[in-house]
Amino acid sequence: MTAVAMVAEFDDVAGWTADAVEQLGERHAIPATCRGSASPAALAWLAEACELSPGISLLDVGAGAGGPSAWAAERFGVRPILLEPMPAAGRAAARLFGLPILAADGRRIPLRTGSVDAAWCLGMLCTVQDKAAVLEEIHRVLKPDASLGLLVLLAHGPQTHPAPEGSYFPTERELSVLLDDTGFELLEQIDQPGEAPLSWSRRAEQVAAFVATRHRTDPAYTLAAHQGERFTHLFASGQIAVRLIHAISRSAGHPLKPRMEER
Ligand SMILES: C[S@@+](CC[C@H](N)C(=O)[O-])C[C@H]1O[C@@H](n2cnc3c(N)ncnc32)[C@H](O)[C@@H]1O
Repeated sequence: MTAVAMVAEFDDVAGWTADAVEQLGERHAIPATCRGSASPAALAWLAEACELSPGISLLDVGAGAGGPSAWAAERFGVRPILLEPMPAAGRAAARLFGLPILAADGRRIPLRTGSVDAAWCLGMLCTVQDKAAVLEEIHRVLKPDASLGLLVLLAHGPQTHPAPEGSYFPTERELSVLLDDTGFELLEQIDQPGEAPLSWSRRAEQVAAFVATRHRTDPAYTLAAHQGERFTHLFASGQIAVRLIHAISRSAGHPLKPRMEER
């Protein structure tokens, strides 16, 4: 993704969102910081699939401003570790939820091999070209047989509308090959399970409206809004769709397959 579009979409908006939540009230925090990635039904599916439970560590790769991790901590008692390279997004998560943040890239996770109980990666894989590098790193830090919950936007057929800058949508087949090659076994997958209830979506909309009122004239706002319009177009025309995936990291007895370019 171009640096400017990425900073606008993931960093500037995250900081503005945290400001807005502080004005509107903390009940807005989780809905507003699950940035287009998840509804409570999707999070619940992922949490149940990954068998989250109190006290386990959950690494959230590309955590943004922290909504999904905060939800998992609140509802399932996990100990989230957020990994997010954008500084204002990390600061937003710290301000709103007081969660620990690793300011790092998903391709080089600063954690010990085999040290994490479960991982989520929601809406992030589509923003990196080298998805295998991210998945290999997640595999490295996960314990054997640990769960990975993914939310991925899959490409359906040829794309006739322009993608948001910096987005690379895999097909279902490409993703399943990627998971297999990087040491994961895909156990289960479903399409997005239903809409968020009004109690959730209204809060997210109120925060978005607050941000728009304050920042509409900022060039970064225009850039982020343009990215959003491209997503809306692709969703509406059926060219991308949300897929939730539960995979497990194969244990050491199943070595990684050589990457495509190494074959
Ligand atoms: C669509 S947002 C999703 C945020 C969050 N997971 C959620 O569901 O609300 C994608 C996030 O991935 C982060 N990201 C992009 N490239 C990354 C990379 N190479 N390593 C780690 N995170 C990255 C972005 O900064 C952004 O916060």
